[in-house]
Order: sequence, then C-alpha cells, then structure tokens
Amino acid sequence: MCYKKEVDLRRAKPLSGDPVIVISTMDENGVKNVAAFGSYLRIGSTIILAIAPDSHTYKNIIRSKEFVINIPGLKDMESIMRASRAYPAGKDEFAAAGLREEPSLIVAPPTIRDYPASVECRLKWTKNEGSHDLVAADFLCGRCDEAYLDPAGRFDQVKAGVLHIVRYPEPVYIVADRYIQGIERM
Ligand SMILES: Cc1cc2nc3c(=O)[nH]c(=O)nc-3n(C[C@H](O)[C@H](O)[C@H](O)COP(=O)(O)O)c2cc1C
Repeated sequence: MCYKKEVDLRRAKPLSGDPVIVISTMDENGVKNVAAFGSYLRIGSTIILAIAPDSHTYKNIIRSKEFVINIPGLKDMESIMRASRAYPAGKDEFAAAGLREEPSLIVAPPTIRDYPASVECRLKWTKNEGSHDLVAADFLCGRCDEAYLDPAGRFDQVKAGVLHIVRYPEPVYIVADRYIQGIERM
C-alpha cells in the first residue's frame, strides 16, 4: 500500500525553495535595471537561470553578456517586491526599488549596496525552454557584507535571513533559522 498521497506537483511544489536573488543589469543607454528571480540551478561556479525572454533583464543580459546576482535577506522584502514590478523600459529601477548601488569589480552593471552578498557573472549560453529561456553564466567574483561573514569567512545565510520562495507566484517565503551540524564528517 502507498503511504504517501499523490499530489498535483504544480500545486504542492515539493521541490520549491531556491534562495531569492535580485539581478542587476544595464541597458544600452546605461539605464540600470533590477528584478527578482527564484528559478535557477547552480553547479560549481556556473548558474543556469530560467528567465522570461520579454523581461528587461533578459534583453540586457543578451546585449551586454554581464550581470550581477545580488542576494537579499529578510530585511529586504520590500525592495524585492518593488524590484519585481513591471516598469516601462528606460526607467531606473534601482531608484524605483529604493536601492542604493555601488560599483561592481569586473562587470559594468552596478551591485546592490544594501544587500548582504553579490556575485558578478558573465553569460555563457542560452537555450529556449518553453515560456522561459535558460541562461547559463559563469561566476567571476563574489562579495559579502562583512556583517554576514562567519569567523571562517563563510557567508552566514541564517544571519542574513536568506529568503526561499516556496509558492511562486504567490509571495510566500521561508527563511532558515539555524544551522544543524551533522554527526559524521563527509
Ligand atoms: C520572488 C520572485 C521570483 C521570481 N522568479 C522569476 C524567475 O525565476 N524567472 C522569471 O523570468 N521571472 C521571475 N520573477 C518575475 C520577475 O521578477 C518580473 O517579471 C520582473 O518584472 C522582471 O523585471 P524586468 O523586466 O525589469 O527584468 C520572480 C519574481 C519574484 C517576486
């Protein structure tokens, strides 16, 4: 007998929960753009994102081949929501979202100063996959607010309150509240 009940995968979403990121890009006129993303796969220092091809983010990445992944925390909920609204082209979305910027180290699009961590990326390839395109990119360098680094130099996701979106497109998130140490070393 089956113990677990069969569910509608699109409703139950048992594998949802990627940490929410906000991608910053720049258009051909230097106008800065931000938007939230939650569907992606990270493998080592490569990331594959699912991005709607009609978004400013997608168009800017295809044109400039550069972007910054910014990692917000619990304190940043309001700006995540504001960054995700559909604004007309040519609008400075940093200003619209109430975000401050700082220069990136390698790429042209600025980094979000207010968020705990960031990773600069360069485009590798894209592939259409239904309503979204898969966008693969390499990590170039990363930065963290020192307030969220533990003594060993690791980014403290619990302290930062990294958010996981679990019922997209509903605005429902979870946040990890503690680290649990395994008994055996792997
Ligand atoms: C938490 C969250 C996660 C999101 N994840 C994605 C995603 O993975 N892919 C996507 O195409 N849009 C995603 N969106 C929607 C975009 O943020 C939204 O379409 C935004 O307006 C795009 O902005 P842009 O046109 O300035 O790029 C997400 C929105 C939120 C709030």
